Amino acid sequence: MLIHVLVVAALTSRAACYFIEEKFPEESGMQPPTVVIAIIARNAAHSLPYYLGALERLNYPKDRISVWAATDHNSDNTTAILREWLTVMQRFYHYVEWRPMDQPTSYAGEFGPKHWPNSRYEYVMKLKQAALNFARKRWADYILYADTDNILTNPETLNLMIAENKSVIAPMLDSPGAYSNFWCGITPQGYYRRTAEYFPTRYRHRHGCYPVPMVHSTLLLDLRKEGMKKLAFYPPHEDYSWPYDDIIVFSFSCRAAEVQMYVCNKERYGYLNVPGKPHFTLEDDRLNFVHVQLESLIDGPAMYPSRYVHMFPKQRDLVGFDEIYLINLRRRPDRRDRMLYSLNELEVDVKVVDAIDGNALNSSDIKFLGVDLLPGYYDPFSGRTLTKGEVGCFLSHYYIWKEVVDMQMDKALIFEDDVRFEANFKRRVLRLMEEVEQVELDWDLIYLGRKQVNPGKEVAVENVRNLVVADYSYWTLSYAISQQGAQKLLNAEPLSKMLPVDEFLPIMYDKHPNEDYKSHFLNRNLQAFSTRPLLVQPCHYAGDPEWVSDTETSTLWDDDSVRTDWRGSHKTLKGAAPPPEMLSASYRDEL
Ligand SMILES: *[C@@H]1O[C@H](CO)[C@@H](O)[C@H](O)[C@H]1NC(C)=O
Ligand SMILES: *[C@@H]1O[C@H](CO)[C@@H](O)[C@H](O)[C@H]1NC(C)=O
Ligand SMILES: *[C@@H]1O[C@H](CO)[C@@H](O)[C@H](O)[C@H]1NC(C)=O
Repeated sequence: MLIHVLVVAALTSRAACYFIEEKFPEESGMQPPTVVIAIIARNAAHSLPYYLGALERLNYPKDRISVWAATDHNSDNTTAILREWLTVMQRFYHYVEWRPMDQPTSYAGEFGPKHWPNSRYEYVMKLKQAALNFARKRWADYILYADTDNILTNPETLNLMIAENKSVIAPMLDSPGAYSNFWCGITPQGYYRRTAEYFPTRYRHRHGCYPVPMVHSTLLLDLRKEGMKKLAFYPPHEDYSWPYDDIIVFSFSCRAAEVQMYVCNKERYGYLNVPGKPHFTLEDDRLNFVHVQLESLIDGPAMYPSRYVHMFPKQRDLVGFDEIYLINLRRRPDRRDRMLYSLNELEVDVKVVDAIDGNALNSSDIKFLGVDLLPGYYDPFSGRTLTKGEVGCFLSHYYIWKEVVDMQMDKALIFEDDVRFEANFKRRVLRLMEEVEQVELDWDLIYLGRKQVNPGKEVAVENVRNLVVADYSYWTLSYAISQQGAQKLLNAEPLSKMLPVDEFLPIMYDKHPNEDYKSHFLNRNLQAFSTRPLLVQPCHYAGDPEWVSDTETSTLWDDDSVRTDWRGSHKTLKGAAPPPEMLSASYRDEL
């Protein structure tokens, strides 16, 4: 009886609940479409950790993604890296199809890993077709092709491309140059044609998704759309007479099926490596990729390696110098971190020296150090004399020259902390110094980065490639200094007649236009040269709204009453309006 009452009560209250609140479960939402990611990897050990890192960070449910991965014709560690990654990741993805092939390690008729004989084109077309067949067989909604040196740093890329609802669409990828993964024009023979639209698109002077005759390297295909059934990578269309090349074959296939390709540049999606020339080695390819990687630190978003791929520490060295110095202000750790990361990737060893912080100096410190201003020094651009930042910067360089002499070094290399490196930086420095040695050049200083003030002709040095006799220059971004050079600079006793260090150097090699300044220094016989082209550039230029110089915006050198106007890090200054003097063309050094 008691049980009966309880059951009735339970039933009634349940029924009441339904009738009073009328609460039904809502229809659940849709699952995201299914995607196949096609990975076709060959000799990609240098870029794979970053490529896979970007894939695993894509903001898309992994259980809606199948991975189809093929690797073959390798002479590097690509297979092992991919296997290591897939072993960990396969439990997250819906399905993984793994197609490694150890032999052969090259294609018939191939004279290098960046050479494409027809046999290679044909094989790659077949691989892409096999991935497409796989995706169709599994009723996948989309297939994403992404070459293994295409790094999708934007985790929303897949979602953004899907949202465009196009049959064939590519996220425009950035490179250090004009190269990207689309064409705006195609010749009647199927070759690349440069058109007026290319640069405005490439450099995002216009933003959108644009119909183009060619996208390649990274592209998303919506397999649900009607016309997609006709597309093929292999065999080429029966009317095909264009070059035997997988990307052109596919572009033709789209055209024949009346499927329009689109490229999108609304956001930044990632980077791609510039394809190597046919004679390139794997090392050339790797160095190109390092350059893309370092540029991504500056232009952002940066690329990060996968957590699931083992990476070996870099083997750094001093590139033939006795010491390499990085001058960094302690309160700019952001710059130090980027420089140390970059130099590590370039396999260059470096000693960080704490820059003398001019803002921390007061007038009695400055007098104690024996610093006095060059009589009559006046900066014609800003209409002011030396700042504390410039004093600190001069002292920082000066103490390095002193160490070079005291330690009896043959030669040293100096970097300030806001430089960007040209491609192949280390190899170019090695070759330069080798040739300088071969011709027994009598050198004191070689600029690797500077601003040429009079862009006139400078005399080339015979039998040394890419070296000129330096004319009047600004900036001290990076230079090599010999012991003899450092000694000459110290002998000039510059502390007691100080002017900015980048004005002092041209005085010492006797190319400064101001006779008055020069008259204070007697032996102006520094043998100064410069690489041409330069091997480093500044990260920012004056006039660039985010650019902040620590020397030129600090307060006047001997005025304790003026508190320095800012002490923050680079980051907190971003977005703040620059003081007007920063917009002048007088950018000098960065410390
Ligand atoms: C190749 O890669 C695997 C997996 O990342 C690693 O364990 C192995 O040490 C690598 N071998 C070489 C020679 O780099
Ligand atoms: C996507 O495009 C197709 C035509 O290809 C159209 O039928 C469909 O409505 C579009 N979907 C959305 C969400 O706009
Ligand atoms: C300058 O700073 C030093 C410490 O760096 C201090 O000992 C000295 O008293 C200061 N002089 C003046 C004039 O403020």
